[in-house]
Amino acid sequence: MGMRLIVTLDLSNDLTICFYYAWGMYESIRLGVNIDHVATLRNARGGVNPDPLEIALLLENAGDTDLITIHLREDRRHIRDADVYKIRKECGLPLNLECAVTDDMLKIAFDVKPDWVCLVPENRLEITTEGGLAIKSRQEHIARAIKILNDHDIKVSLFIDPDVRAVNLSKDVGAQAVEVHTGAYANDTSDEELSRIQSAAAQCAAIELQCHAGHGLTYDNVKAVAQISNVEELNIGHYLVGEALKVGLVQSVRHMKQIISSQ
Ligand code: PXP
Repeated sequence: MGMRLIVTLDLSNDLTICFYYAWGMYESIRLGVNIDHVATLRNARGGVNPDPLEIALLLENAGDTDLITIHLREDRRHIRDADVYKIRKECGLPLNLECAVTDDMLKIAFDVKPDWVCLVPENRLEITTEGGLAIKSRQEHIARAIKILNDHDIKVSLFIDPDVRAVNLSKDVGAQAVEVHTGAYANDTSDEELSRIQSAAAQCAAIELQCHAGHGLTYDNVKAVAQISNVEELNIGHYLVGEALKVGLVQSVRHMKQIISSQ
């Protein structure tokens, strides 16, 4: 639920301006912050800084993050098993665990019990998740994974290309949501790419499937996606971590300078 400040100008009553807050008047889009690249930075040095758990706790404390999203890749190139367990145990925000549809990943999911699992395709050679899940060729396998996850009280979304057929297939295999891949739109913000996302979202509404979206979103390209009426959640990572350098590095340099100067 969001909060909206409503300003009314009452001309009949000596130009009284009334301000009031209306609670729960509209559902705001949830923002899932993907902190994989905090782990990428940590792993670059092989040490413990920056710690994804510490960042998750900072985000929880700051209040604007609605959920934490992490992708446990099979090659563990960023988030590691210990991060997943620690974040689940110590961070109070809902957890969305992205993973491939493999027995090993499902075992970890049952153990960790995130609020959501987002099933994604995985190719070890890719730099990031390049496309949506191929559902048709693995329908039974995916349906079985969703059923088992649901039996463990874990909701499931499928990361799909913005394609109405993929939305329908997601419903057929029993998913509670889809996450529409916005990467193509991020690379080419044309009306055509946007309308593919809009159609997928409209189909979600028609067949009562939650619609999430994400990948490659920035301050600029997020606006059109956030305007799609039934998109309930956006998962954003890489750009936010990059932006954090711009808003935070100046402060950390200042702090370092103070420490050095006070010696
Ligand atoms: N959603 C999914 C399913 C992803 O795989 C990723 C990337 O890990 C994201 C969202 C976030 O994408 P980005 O880091 O480009 O914001």
